[in-house]
Amino acid sequence: MSVKEIFESMEYGPAPESAAEALAWLVDQGDRFGHFIDGTFTAPGAGFESRNPATGEVLATLTQATQDDVDAAVSAARKAQPGWAKLGGPGRARHLYALARLLQKHARLFAVLETLDNGKPIRESRDIDLPLAARHFYHHAGWAQLMESELPGRAPLGVCGQIVPWNFPLLMLAWKIAPALATGNTVVLKPAEWTSLTALLFADICRQAGLPKGVVNIVTGDGAVGEMIVAADVDKIAFTGSTEVGRRIREATAGSGKALTLELGGKSPYIVFEDADIDSAVEGLVDAIWLNGGQVCCAGSRLLVQEGIAETFHARLRTRMEKLRVGNPLDKCIDVGAIVDPVQRDRIAAMVGANTEGEVFQPAPCPSGCYFPPTLITGLSPAAPLMQDEIFGPVLVSTTFRTPSEAVQLANDTRYGLAASVWSENINTALDIAPKLAAGVVWINGSNMFDAAAPFGGVRESGFGREGGPEGLMAYTRPAGTEKAKALKPVAPFGGDEAEPQPVDQTAKLYIGGKQARPDGGHAREVFDKRGKLIGQAPIANRKDIRNAVEAARGAAGWSAATAHNRAQVLYYIGENLSARAGEFAQSIDRLTGGRSGAAEVEAAVNRLFTYGAWADKFDGRIANVPMRGAALAMRQPCGVIGAFCPDELPLLGLVSIMAPAIAMGNRVVLVASEPFPLAATAFYQVLETSDVPGGVVNILAGPHAELAPTLASHMDVDAVWSFSGAELSATIERGAAGTLKRTWVNDGRARDWMGPEGEGRAFLEAATEVKTVWIPWGA
Ligand code: NAI
Repeated sequence: MSVKEIFESMEYGPAPESAAEALAWLVDQGDRFGHFIDGTFTAPGAGFESRNPATGEVLATLTQATQDDVDAAVSAARKAQPGWAKLGGPGRARHLYALARLLQKHARLFAVLETLDNGKPIRESRDIDLPLAARHFYHHAGWAQLMESELPGRAPLGVCGQIVPWNFPLLMLAWKIAPALATGNTVVLKPAEWTSLTALLFADICRQAGLPKGVVNIVTGDGAVGEMIVAADVDKIAFTGSTEVGRRIREATAGSGKALTLELGGKSPYIVFEDADIDSAVEGLVDAIWLNGGQVCCAGSRLLVQEGIAETFHARLRTRMEKLRVGNPLDKCIDVGAIVDPVQRDRIAAMVGANTEGEVFQPAPCPSGCYFPPTLITGLSPAAPLMQDEIFGPVLVSTTFRTPSEAVQLANDTRYGLAASVWSENINTALDIAPKLAAGVVWINGSNMFDAAAPFGGVRESGFGREGGPEGLMAYTRPAGTEKAKALKPVAPFGGDEAEPQPVDQTAKLYIGGKQARPDGGHAREVFDKRGKLIGQAPIANRKDIRNAVEAARGAAGWSAATAHNRAQVLYYIGENLSARAGEFAQSIDRLTGGRSGAAEVEAAVNRLFTYGAWADKFDGRIANVPMRGAALAMRQPCGVIGAFCPDELPLLGLVSIMAPAIAMGNRVVLVASEPFPLAATAFYQVLETSDVPGGVVNILAGPHAELAPTLASHMDVDAVWSFSGAELSATIERGAAGTLKRTWVNDGRARDWMGPEGEGRAFLEAATEVKTVWIPWGA
């Protein structure tokens, strides 16, 4: 083709990247891989083939891990952990820097191997996956260096089991391994069965970097191996993958005391207002949905475009789609590569094929083989399966909206909550919409931007926990000194003479929607003092009362929008009113509990209310310094409605210690009072009633925790559940929360010193908030 002809057609010529080095590396390894355990590769065993999806060729044979392999990996990690932690932050930092450097040094080998194994365009693996992975190790090398000064009082969790998916094999490995190692943990990681090669190359790099044996262990295999890791003697599971498997892991780990973070699926909205820069928004959409062929958890897969520009937007989008080059992923001019595996390609095709609504647009041509064409489907109704279900392929669905509030409504009409993009040239529109979106990450006039310093993660069925930045680090640490926490001692109510006549006017009620309410079933139980004397009747709530309380809490959404200053005023007011009646409360607590620390408990409760009044406008987010023309605001938002089971001991202080941080951060709460001593809570209603607490912000129930827990934990309209009650409740709550994958915070049977510093502070504020990362354009 002559230069003149090229200028006329502007066609790209082929520009293939050489696969020679990567293929030679595979040959050097004998094309067969074992696991990487305790610093060495094990002999290859029975396993499966890993193929290049673009050609169908076998790249290598991998070993399916057995239970013995997983056990060996976990015990190597366990043995290595104390030494790795003792190396200290600066010592670990040296190793992480070395890993980052080696990733950069071998960037081309890694990028080509990733493309061969996964099918993503070389442009992406070279310019996105590799630089971001190296940056993750550099950033976390820095955190290791600073850990002692910047994370005082935090200790590693121990051994972390990590399971990653196939869409960003090396990058997800980096997201998991870098923070774990920085904070002194050791790991057993399982790559996805379709894409294990860069993880094995990384293992080789660990050897070259002189990483101590057993710090990083990599076992290969399918979901059965993942299950073994989940069941193993590990202290944390970090998982990225499908919502379905995430839910199974939540159920499997319920009550085990293992820390858990889940980064799951999404159906992220891409909202374009009519005042958007349309060409930029079209180009942003290319990154949003055709990056990695749409096989991205936070892909902007749901286009919501304002009615007035819908026609022109779709027209320009179709024109752009016609220019997308689909084909050989090793070609540097290719935009959309191969789908990871024929199984995934068939899954995408089946979902699109089952659709009977709307209009499907697919520009020709798309190569035959494991490819799927970029697809746009317009005219779907909001409830259509393709509008609701994650497709995980290069398929964009689109609908229109009229007003900003309709945009928010449509955007949030999903069970997911991972990411969202907002396009508008009007700063007011963009910054008004961003906080209203149910999403862990919001990009303003952008999409699919990531950085090690910016927290990433979801809400709702997109999972919980954050990766990146100090928020991500916290998920790999625990307060120092808590590994040997005392076991919680069960507290039983006092018995007494059931036949004793009932004191007049002593039947306490529940507190729902700012009013005292009789329990739905009309049941109550007698409460006795230590000497067996009847004190009064405690109400017994049932499932219907829980539903009423949750509804009241939902209805009090205005509290989340109140200013932090106003919330602080209400907390101070509660504190003042409790203080005014301190003597009476102290006496009653002593009688209820048979103790003598009532006065100290009430004083601590008053103090705690003032502490969280103080915190209300001070627990801020931060601005992440991301290396691009933008800033990422890591904002703290309330979780929403928090259900909580109060501790069985210290009936007033326990309740206040849970209520105060939750409402200070703008949540509404449904509290279930101490089971043996509920009357301390029922007396507290009067304090709330006189303290300007809006109805529905605080709801208090009483009754048997074990019976109420499944209903509260599985309620669709509850966003987070906490339990500081009996040991067995932890499992019930974590299992119940698996349905909607809500966040949980449970004690796993460990005692907490409520009177001391353990009873208040940042841990409570962190549990009471979700981090929302809002990326905004910033600077010249
Ligand atoms: P998956 O969730 O089954 O696989 C992810 C990882 O989990 C892999 O390493 C796999 O071996 C492992 N795994 C599977 N079952 C397990 C179990 N019971 N316990 C522990 N680990 C287990 O994802 P899959 O089947 O490859 O893809 C299915 C769909 O999931 C995709 O079409 C997509 O919709 C979604 N997906 C979402 C991802 C995300 O990043 N959010 C990543 C991968 C898939």
